[in-house]
Amino acid sequence: MKKKRILSGMRPTGKLHLGHLHGALLNWKKLQEEYECFYFIADWHALSSEYTCPDIIRESTYEIIMDWISIGLDPEVSTFFIQSQLKEHAELHLIFSMITPLPWLERNPTYKEQLNELTQKDVYTYGFLGYPVLQAADILMYKARGVPVGKDQAPHVELTREIARRFNHLYGEVFPVPDVLLTPTSKMLGTDRRKMSKSYGNAIFLTDTDEEIDNKVGQMITDPQRARRNDPGNPDICNVFSFHEIYTGSEIIESINRECRSADIGCVDCKKLMAANLKKGLKPIRAKRKKLEADPKKVKEIVEQGNRKARMVARETMLEVREAVKI
Ligand code: TRP
Ligand code: SF4
Repeated sequence: MKKKRILSGMRPTGKLHLGHLHGALLNWKKLQEEYECFYFIADWHALSSEYTCPDIIRESTYEIIMDWISIGLDPEVSTFFIQSQLKEHAELHLIFSMITPLPWLERNPTYKEQLNELTQKDVYTYGFLGYPVLQAADILMYKARGVPVGKDQAPHVELTREIARRFNHLYGEVFPVPDVLLTPTSKMLGTDRRKMSKSYGNAIFLTDTDEEIDNKVGQMITDPQRARRNDPGNPDICNVFSFHEIYTGSEIIESINRECRSADIGCVDCKKLMAANLKKGLKPIRAKRKKLEADPKKVKEIVEQGNRKARMVARETMLEVREAVKI
């Protein structure tokens, strides 16, 4: 039986960190077994917030694709492509923009939240309001049945569903209505216990060196109640412990759990142990990354092959769309 197709994308606005790894990428990797996966770089979406300094977009596009492959997304199995290389997305976005009522966009909770949050940037633009319309074009272009995203993106996919229904109602059944495949939220926070984010300066990047990892782990905030070495700690509220749960073997986790509560282990040693395991865990990813960095031609080829595959689908869909819209 043919696998169901799913699609997801990332905005290239910087290098990837552990938040991306545990919040999205490892899930994407797993989904490869069950679905036909299209994963793409949403560079036009990035432009909606980075238009004043767009250099970061081109810089991080290939970095991200190398990260994807390094963590185990397989270009032989999944299709990687770059949004702006497929002009069909722009055309479908334009057509969808004709049929999308403004209130649908204005009431979008993610939009409202971002207007408040991105105070450093002027995002009162036409393009930013239409961000989810472009996202609908990305998804429906490939007739994806599912869209793996985090909670914050769910309203966008909801809008995609509404746009698909409206299009089908106006012009005939062209698009399947895709499901949200909600990614379980990861417990991994940034070094300061806020959500891990490049802009908070609290991220551990996949490309960090051993030294950078040691420094960042050393600065991590632990159980804030544990002020002195002799105070008992509580691993349940300690971010270092959340990292242990991912990167440390289960027997050792249990002893840390016990010894933290009885103040038999101190945070400094506990962090050292965690940093060592984290570095060990990232080692194969880094080794693969090094190999790719040495062969940029291969990475280019992978992307070109993905673009070609995506283009075949996009062309077909646009023929149907133009036929339906009679333009
Ligand atoms: N908006 C998504 C994000 O910021 C990126 C994205 C663009 C996307 N187009 C998409 C995700 C289509 C899933 C499907 O994370
Ligand atoms: Fe956290 Fe480890 Fe310190 Fe306990 S000993 S508070 S788990 S860093």
